[in-house]
Amino acid sequence: MDHFHYKNGIYHAEDVALDALAQDIGTPFYCYSTATLTRHYQVFSSHFPDAKICYAVKANGNLAVVKTLANLGSGADVVSEGEIRLALAAGIKPQDIVFSGVGKTASEMAYALNQNIFQFNVESIPELHLLSEMALAAGVKAQIAVRVNPDVDPKTHAKIATGHKESKFGIGMGQAMEVYRLAAGLKGIEIQGVSVHIGSQLTHLEPFAQAFARMRSFVGELRAAGFPINTLDLGGGLGIPYGNEEPPLPEAYAEIVRRETDGLNCRLIFEPGRVLVGNAGILVTRVIYVKQSEGRFFVIVDAGMNDLIRPALYEAYHDIVPIIATGEGSTELVDVVGPVCETGDIFAEQRLLKLPKAGDLLAFRTAGAYGAAMASTYNARPLIAEIMVNGAQYAVIRPRQSYDELLRRDRLPEWL
Ligand code: LLP
Repeated sequence: MDHFHYKNGIYHAEDVALDALAQDIGTPFYCYSTATLTRHYQVFSSHFPDAKICYAVKANGNLAVVKTLANLGSGADVVSEGEIRLALAAGIKPQDIVFSGVGKTASEMAYALNQNIFQFNVESIPELHLLSEMALAAGVKAQIAVRVNPDVDPKTHAKIATGHKESKFGIGMGQAMEVYRLAAGLKGIEIQGVSVHIGSQLTHLEPFAQAFARMRSFVGELRAAGFPINTLDLGGGLGIPYGNEEPPLPEAYAEIVRRETDGLNCRLIFEPGRVLVGNAGILVTRVIYVKQSEGRFFVIVDAGMNDLIRPALYEAYHDIVPIIATGEGSTELVDVVGPVCETGDIFAEQRLLKLPKAGDLLAFRTAGAYGAAMASTYNARPLIAEIMVNGAQYAVIRPRQSYDELLRRDRLPEWL
């Protein structure tokens, strides 16, 4: 459920009319709904009152979005020093931060140790050695979980699957016990728990159930071997409906979690990203031209793959709706494309839509997760504005990048 809806034929974000907003802000822009963010956080967290919910900041790193979730009690799952700084800037306490990722550098570790974050999710033996050295140098102990790769097929897009044994993520079940033995012998390391994350946009429950069941028995084995396991980090990955998928409801996911963790006596950690922010954002764009060529309609809009790369990268589906629904015009099969000079700059291919006219406004729905976060300035296109709505109020939470800012990033060498 989200708070984007039509009122008298005009698409609104909460109580803000998006045609008027587009007039004020210019297009394209991302628009986020506070009520939707709040609702999603509350629904998810209500099922896990004793758990640490660590929002996966990578999904949407806008400070106002992170702060909205932080104010509701969220911690952060981070994958870089930049994300640690962002979480702290949003008011998240270091003790509510977990640090994931396969490529943590020495200086990132030093920064995280210095901030005294809650947990490092370690993904390799060399990382474990380096973390121990860095902790010793800082005169502290790093609290760790080993990220285990449970080798389950998450049944999601190949580019966002992580829990199969050929992926670069985590440590295979066969090797994980040995890594705990090694960790126990390292002076800079304190074992605290286990972690797992098998992929993103999961629309079936069985992979979660399989992975969590494997974690359950592994926690038992670790404890039998004498390791203290107090935290169990179950990662993120819960899918959301973009089109007609029917992802599990949070209560069904919670039921699986309860079944697989009951009596384990571990503090649970979750790293939800998309499920909190995905439906809370849309991308508003204006039609520049409608072109008809070889019997095909191309709706050319002012947003490009640099602003929202998911369709180009993952063939992802985003629902496209008009901001002003007049009901006029014919329904046609159209390609909705951006201006970027790439054949892959396509938002929708042969989609049945009411044929818009040049100047009309469209919204790409479900763009709150991995939208602005993955944007670039490819084709020298400035990063677009981000707006947050709260009831009848709105604020620019990231101004559109100016051409000046874009050009100022480069320096000429002396010889030019
Ligand atoms: N934890 C870890 C260790 C992760 O790698 C991720 C996502 C999450 C949590 C959050 O997963 P979520 O709850 O959002 O599914 N750019 C892609 C998604 C990449 C996901 C990367 N890792 C997309 O647009 O679909």
